[in-house]
Amino acid sequence: MNLIFLGPPGAGKGTQAKKLVDLLGIPQISTGDILREKKREDSPLGHKVREIMSEGKLVPDEIVIEIVKERLGKPDCGKGFILDGFPRTIPQAEALEKILAEMRKQLDAVVYIDVPDEELIRRISGRRVCEECGEEYHIIFKPPRVEGVCDKCGGKLIQREDDKEEVVKKRIEVYNESTAPLVDFYEKKGLLKKINGVASMENVFESIKTSLGV
Ligand code: AP5
Repeated sequence: MNLIFLGPPGAGKGTQAKKLVDLLGIPQISTGDILREKKREDSPLGHKVREIMSEGKLVPDEIVIEIVKERLGKPDCGKGFILDGFPRTIPQAEALEKILAEMRKQLDAVVYIDVPDEELIRRISGRRVCEECGEEYHIIFKPPRVEGVCDKCGGKLIQREDDKEEVVKKRIEVYNESTAPLVDFYEKKGLLKKINGVASMENVFESIKTSLGV
């Protein structure tokens, strides 16, 4: 299955995409994760990406499109993929159509996880990430067994730089301005599966599975 997970920051795209990876055995392609790797590089591109992300803005389309194009060409995408956090603008969506047409592939569905702004801030401010293995937690909804310590590898749990309140507000603003128009874009193409994201992680997953028939 070739899928897109769409929704505002903190809607649960990453959480749900990982569950579907386990079920379907197809890779999750998170542009956020790829760009977080890039920003660690000591290169002009790494510095540029770091600055943009720390302000909650979008990385330029041409950079992200190139990254996705290369990633979709890898053999593990042969049976399908879940794009998490891409596309985020209409030009990105149009570029994706071209890339998929060249690869003779088609999108099967766009899973749109709908969550209101107040809930997004609550979720993001409680998110903690393992600095070693990247495993994600939430201080209330998915706490680690020992506070501040990763269950999986024992690494230290930290708050993402762009999860600070001021940056989160900017990310939501950018989402509403640049990404929200994609809901209409994919609705018109008959691909949109709208999911109510205000429910437990398990219930949201059940709704996604039902909507996809898996
Ligand atoms: P990215 O990493 O994609 O961030 P995002 O879209 O803002 O997504 P998040 O990871 O914050 O949220 P999510 O929806 O995945 O929620 P999650 O499952 O983690 O992008 C970061 C930055 O990279 C961007 O700001 C931009 O600069 C750049 N970038 C990335 N892609 C780009 C692109 N295409 N173009 C240009 N720039 C790009 O859940 C959040 C929290 O809530 C977690 O703690 C989780 O445990 C909890 N939670 C999840 N579900 C539930 C639930 N049902 N109930 C209670 N808690 C829940």
